[in-house]
Amino acid sequence: MSSLEQTLSIIKPDAVERNLESEIKEMFKNKGFKILKEKKIQIDKSEAEKFYKIHETKPFYNDLCTYLSSGPIVVMTLERENAVLGNRELMGATNPQDAIEGTIRKKYGISIDKNSVHGSDSIENAKIEIDFFFKD
Ligand code: CMP
Repeated sequence: MSSLEQTLSIIKPDAVERNLESEIKEMFKNKGFKILKEKKIQIDKSEAEKFYKIHETKPFYNDLCTYLSSGPIVVMTLERENAVLGNRELMGATNPQDAIEGTIRKKYGISIDKNSVHGSDSIENAKIEIDFFFKD
């Protein structure tokens, strides 16, 4: 049975600012991901709050939303077999200090906040997150 999936990926402000966009996209392509849709945008804080609503009760919520809206980001719909899990494996642990060799966050992440990329954590959230940025 085929399990072709789509997931949402964000290249966060710290990575866009360091011009890592093409290197990171290359890492996705090397792992077999197809970039179906992409756009470079800057969102405002209220949009970031909506996007990260799932984290609204967390102590880091305010800083997280301020950060995501602090500069340009690249949002992408990625497609591959098992895309959701595959993307999480390629990104590595949320905290770059815990990420293993070969992952995006190990290579480029600076801190738990400036961890270079976001990826959907489930198929259900992937649909919601793709719609959030690409529904028109
Ligand atoms: P991301 O995958 O984009 O999802 C939520 C983000 O919150 C996460 O990456 C981190 O960048 C950020 N964050 C900050 N502090 C924490 C924390 N203690 N635990 C999890 N995520 C955190």
